[in-house]
Amino acid sequence: MRNDSYPLELSAVRLDDDDDCAIIIDQTLLPGQASELRLRAPSDFYDAILRLAVRGAPAIGIAAAYGIYLAAKRLDTDIYENFRKYVSGYCEYLNASRPTAVNLRWALSRMETVVEKNSDSPVSEIKSLLLLESEKIATEDAEMCEAIGRHSLTLLRPGMGVLTHCNAGSLATGGIGTATAGIYLAEAEGYGLRVYCDETRPLLQGARLTAYELIASGVDTTLICDNMASFVMSRGLIDIVLTGCDRVAANGDSANKIGTLSVAVNARHYGIPFYICAPSSTIDLACPTGADIPIEERPSGEVTTMWYSSPMAPDGVKVFNPAFDVTPAELITGIITERGVVAPPYENNLTNFV
Ligand code: MRU
Repeated sequence: MRNDSYPLELSAVRLDDDDDCAIIIDQTLLPGQASELRLRAPSDFYDAILRLAVRGAPAIGIAAAYGIYLAAKRLDTDIYENFRKYVSGYCEYLNASRPTAVNLRWALSRMETVVEKNSDSPVSEIKSLLLLESEKIATEDAEMCEAIGRHSLTLLRPGMGVLTHCNAGSLATGGIGTATAGIYLAEAEGYGLRVYCDETRPLLQGARLTAYELIASGVDTTLICDNMASFVMSRGLIDIVLTGCDRVAANGDSANKIGTLSVAVNARHYGIPFYICAPSSTIDLACPTGADIPIEERPSGEVTTMWYSSPMAPDGVKVFNPAFDVTPAELITGIITERGVVAPPYENNLTNFV
């Protein structure tokens, strides 16, 4: 039976060229409030990415590309060298907003390449090419999500229990998500999956975002605290783990939202297949291993105070708040890309893939 509600129509980021802005859903306010924000200046984009108003590796890449186009569009110069320097400066600035997801650098370097490759063209023409490139980055991402979904579907069976961590859904991408893509396609075919979402401390992307978008799409969704995942696995409720990721190193080590590593360790203990969903924009062959992936650390208040009416930790307590962790390649059953499922050994198989 097809589920006609598939998938929830959500656009994490889109361009409004007539109004010289990109429109995002402010994800810090979900699920209570779905309100839009209009980003115009590079500082608007930097701030929105930094405070996770727009988030998820592919979505921040798309937002940054739009940010560069809009900044370039406003530049009042016909001199190529001046134009190039400004665009390059904006790229460097936005790239510093978040360090872990390689999609940000990937999208920005695509934009910079457009400028560099067209040094003989008038600046006005380069601006049009930057518009095309930013739109291409968004469209390609939507296509990659669909393709990841089709490959994920080959691993899913009706009635399966699926565990996911963080939000690698529509809100994190330009399409139907990466980890959620197979879920949405399976639901469209009436698979009746049972999806478990880790709440994902400390910023609750699983509770606030994944549960929100899955429920709105009619998916059977159960929310659990992160520390419940192993118990749920021990009860035989999980048949497969699907998560997104922020950067895959050349050896297959994969960075994703903090807590993913414990899910992978637990999955191995219980013999549950653990898959990472990664568009090629997330694969960084220039990064040899997970140890080379920069891990973002975020403010202590996200752990001690946020979401609470009064602080839930003693004043002055030391807080360590890494936003991501790295799952070693040996715990990953496969990496689901838009071109197929990459199996170990990742050193060889990822190199052949890209
Ligand atoms: O800090 P966030 O919310 O941007 O972290 C997001 C994740 O870790 C996602 O799983 C990842 O970016 C993949 S999104 C398709």
